[in-house]
Amino acid sequence: MSTTQTLFDQAGHKNLLLPDFGHGLAVQANQHLIIHGNEGMILDPGGHKVYNRVLGETTGLLKGGKLRYLFLSHQDPDIIAAVNGWLMTTDADAYVSSLWVRFVPHFGLDRLVEHRLHGIPDEGMVLSLAGADLLILPAHFLHSAGNFQVYDPMSKILYSGDLGASLGMDYDVVPDFDAHLQYMEGFHKRYMTSKIVLRAWVNMVRNLDIEIIAPQHGAMFKGADMSKRFIDWCESLECGVDLLEGGFKLPRRT
Ligand SMILES: [Fe+2]
Ligand SMILES: [Fe+2]
Repeated sequence: MSTTQTLFDQAGHKNLLLPDFGHGLAVQANQHLIIHGNEGMILDPGGHKVYNRVLGETTGLLKGGKLRYLFLSHQDPDIIAAVNGWLMTTDADAYVSSLWVRFVPHFGLDRLVEHRLHGIPDEGMVLSLAGADLLILPAHFLHSAGNFQVYDPMSKILYSGDLGASLGMDYDVVPDFDAHLQYMEGFHKRYMTSKIVLRAWVNMVRNLDIEIIAPQHGAMFKGADMSKRFIDWCESLECGVDLLEGGFKLPRRT
């Protein structure tokens, strides 16, 4: 099994990628932890299959510190299915798009913890992790209608959620951008909404100083050049409704 990877560690600020605890049919998913001082934020903690081990690893890495936030980029099960367990066993506050606050409880949210599930306004927000600002960036329709990413100015890591996801390769850092396209092109063309939305995102993130783009599935883009390659690719990608020219057809009955 893989081990926890340290992506950044300076001045009491750590960015950690947890080991890959997933297996079987469940889609591979990355769990990231940001620690500043004695507080932590877990990003997209995942579902029941990995809950025990992600929680155990997180608790160990915090070394007695406090899990302050659960960041939920959107409402998919690979992100929030185990949110009740996280809220019941920690004192963390969970943040998800305000669009999904009434839907998440259908995964089974105990009344005792409901007040710790908070809605993120459409325009995004800033969360302070023991004094370190984390930018919660709007990235709606990439792919979910209420979708956010996290930019950490200290480590210069952009946690991009499903945007940048790749499936099926055996590396966790992209070694060759062109050779990597085969693992992410199909996903982006089907799951991402349109080039208009992608360009809105590109225009926003071009203002950021980025060292790593870390998606929720698959490999990271490491280094400013590789991150730029990904952003440039997004700028010209046709996807989602752009490719819907033929409309829908009724299924054929036999
Ligand atoms: Fe998703
Ligand atoms: Fe996902």
